[in-house]
Amino acid sequence: METKYTVKNIEKKRDHLSIKWADNFKSKFHFLWLRDNCPTAIHPTANMRVFNILSVNKKIFPKEFQVKKRKLNIFWSENNHQSQYELKWLRDHCYTEINNKKYISPYKFWDGTLKKNFNKIKLDYDNIIKEDRYLKKWLVLLNSYGFAIVKNSPTKKRSGFKILNKISHHRETFFGTPFEVINIPKPNNTAYTAQALRNHTDLPYFEYAPGYQFLHCLINDATGGKSSVVDGFAVANYIRKKEKEVFNILTTNYVKFKDTDYTQKAIRILHSPIITLTKNKDFNDIRFSMAAMGTIDIEPKKMKKFYDAYQYFASLLHNIKFKIDFRLEAGDIFCFNNRRILHGRTEFDPNSGNRHLQGYYIERDEIIARLNYFNNIKI
Ligand SMILES: [Fe+2]
Repeated sequence: METKYTVKNIEKKRDHLSIKWADNFKSKFHFLWLRDNCPTAIHPTANMRVFNILSVNKKIFPKEFQVKKRKLNIFWSENNHQSQYELKWLRDHCYTEINNKKYISPYKFWDGTLKKNFNKIKLDYDNIIKEDRYLKKWLVLLNSYGFAIVKNSPTKKRSGFKILNKISHHRETFFGTPFEVINIPKPNNTAYTAQALRNHTDLPYFEYAPGYQFLHCLINDATGGKSSVVDGFAVANYIRKKEKEVFNILTTNYVKFKDTDYTQKAIRILHSPIITLTKNKDFNDIRFSMAAMGTIDIEPKKMKKFYDAYQYFASLLHNIKFKIDFRLEAGDIFCFNNRRILHGRTEFDPNSGNRHLQGYYIERDEIIARLNYFNNIKI
């Protein structure tokens, strides 16, 4: 048994047990935490907690405790309850250690130079369909680089479901699934025109914007219509390092996003910062769409600085230093984290040929949860 799983010394303190392990690491295990994590508290098949935190007093304490045969035994002050914990489980769930660890971001930031290694983010459709190791590779790319292109997929309408269902179910929206990216008369969205689309994230006016987007190219014979992709997190990280005040403005000012699609009996309004962060100060999401931006209504004293910051961020998001231009081909599925990666396209000539993409959304939860499953993450 590894020394890290062997107890050298155990002491009862006022509100916790203090364990010194054979590798000299010291852990704290608070009484109520221990009682809450008694192995009997977990349903054997549902793997859910059945213990009710209200069934014990907050002053509960171990009346007796001992380490024996790689287990910690506790006889509790209440209800004649006994608990037995595997030492390995305790050490692996030691929150002293977990909170001492330096946070490592799962994201690999990239810029325009990735174009030279564009093959790195491409995968073959059949490989993913046939072998889970390619499915995993796809998920790893989506999680780390935030985007990937699946090549050689079928070009039949709605055929994207097959490969996407290898990940999970899709996220429905009022655009329907798949949504048709094609120029139509009287469009309810500028995506459904032949006009250029500036780099953006989709549906920023949703409280919970779709996590991933999949644009399945069925045909692209028209002149123009070149796609662009940019890592919003990389640009935000650049600003965080170079322009601290701008970063502060973009992460703290709640700006208005809105949708008033004339085909819907709904008016969607959301206030959010353009960049949000996680508890580890890593990037959570980017909401950016000039088209879906509402009329900004922040305080007058902040307006000038906000617009300067917003315009600066917009300029970097369209700068050749960060963005990559490429052409989608029939059979490509352009897949990206919609709350990180911005996408756009140049204008196309609808009289020169056809351009038809079908779009799908899947939540970010589903990508990460599948990846956790493949990585056999223990919790
Ligand atoms: Fe879009």
